[in-house]
Amino acid sequence: MGSRGWSPATAGRDLARGTPSTEPRSTAGSSPPFDGLDCRPMPTYRAPRGTRDLLPGETATWTRLERLAADLAARYGYHRIETPLFELTDVFERGVGEVTDIVEKELFRLAPRTEEGEAWALRPEPTAGIVRAYVQHGMQTWPQPVKLTETGPMFRYDRPQAGRYRQFWQWDVEAIGDPGPAIDAEIIELATRFYREAGLAGVEVQLNSIGDPACRPAYVAELTAYFRANVSALPELERDRLERNVLRLLDSKDPAMAALNAAAPRITDRLCGLCAEHFAGVQTHLDALGVPYRLAPGLVRGLDYYTRTAFEFYVVGREGQQQALAGGGRYDGLVELLGGRPTPGIGFGIGLDRLLLALAETNAPGASVVEPPLVAVVVGADPDDTVTRLRVATDLRAAGIAARAELGRRKLGKQLEAAARDQAHFAVIVGDELAAGEVGLRDLPAGTQKLVAIEDLAREIGRSHGAHRHGPAPD
Ligand code: HAM
Repeated sequence: MGSRGWSPATAGRDLARGTPSTEPRSTAGSSPPFDGLDCRPMPTYRAPRGTRDLLPGETATWTRLERLAADLAARYGYHRIETPLFELTDVFERGVGEVTDIVEKELFRLAPRTEEGEAWALRPEPTAGIVRAYVQHGMQTWPQPVKLTETGPMFRYDRPQAGRYRQFWQWDVEAIGDPGPAIDAEIIELATRFYREAGLAGVEVQLNSIGDPACRPAYVAELTAYFRANVSALPELERDRLERNVLRLLDSKDPAMAALNAAAPRITDRLCGLCAEHFAGVQTHLDALGVPYRLAPGLVRGLDYYTRTAFEFYVVGREGQQQALAGGGRYDGLVELLGGRPTPGIGFGIGLDRLLLALAETNAPGASVVEPPLVAVVVGADPDDTVTRLRVATDLRAAGIAARAELGRRKLGKQLEAAARDQAHFAVIVGDELAAGEVGLRDLPAGTQKLVAIEDLAREIGRSHGAHRHGPAPD
């Protein structure tokens, strides 16, 4: 790709500088609009910082990933749910937790509308909203577990940089109503398969158990005492976190914390009997499925609702702060917290933006999918006869063929040049033969042309195009 081209990787760098990309983004297979200087005026408006437009040329890869996610969700028995992009702020404050970065610093709170008297926020993640819907719609009376999936944009007001956006997309999967541990392993295997089928190599899941209300409080007290005893060695930020959310110190990426964290008491050594049994069960099932994982005693996750199983996906060797490809875990207290009966649940959220970046950075074969070109372009000898060209193209589309009518009033030669630039397979040429019910059909790559009866046109194009793509049918 030339210096003017766009890739997810370069987009990340644009965001890191805080300026959304204004580079021309060439569509795969076509050339940039100008060869010399970019003569476009400076835009008056740009996409907000930390957001970006997904343009043709990159959306084909995006569509591939969304389709793969939908296909896998169906294969594993998950049903699509769509929840609103905003919820009552309370859903996130109670669900995700008030003393989390996501709620404290990153929530996009909407300006209150006094007539409604309600406070709303854009969703920073989908799990709380899905659980709210589970309770609201009485899904506790449905056969359990209820397996739900949602794909869409999430919003977090954070400092934008490569891999960290203010609007980003997640593929989310939730299984509500099964205490595990088999479903925990099934969910982790599903995410592992997604990366494999997406074509991203070297992905590893890090796995931990963070206990439950029976064993975690004693561990938190022990950990607090440990860090208090070492407070002089703590960086400023971690000192502040110590009194507010001590578990977060464990997954600090500050190099000054490495030695302290390595010597800290481990939650997995302090699990109560039931949590330890559950954690062992998850590992037994993963081993049986042949899913590799790495135990990560420092993995605690940044959301308060987790109990027991917690996991994150990384590309091996790229395990920094903004590099988690996915995160998930068990949330056995969340349904109750949001007003339902005590019900266990587990799920994951896969960051699609980061997956796209990782695919591009590793030059994975699926990193840039090219959209299939048009099959036919309808051109004509009479530049003014847009009516006939549009009618012929409309009939082709009705027959399921991807077609464009040349609606500009330019000469036939120019129309044919444009059809070739579109990389269309056929040009349908409307001329005097139409009076006898025929049109010209030019196979553009082959350079051959013949007359075809207008009523046979769609069938002939479908047959030749299929043979062109798949090779001649066996006799
Ligand atoms: P999370 O770890 O906060 O978990 O987010 C999941 C994934 O979303 C991350 O691993 C990352 O790939 C992506 N992500 C998060 N923030 C950003 C950002 N600012 N820019 C780009 N990508 C981002 C959750 O959201 C949980 N709801 C997951 C879950 C579902 N747990 C149980 N069920």
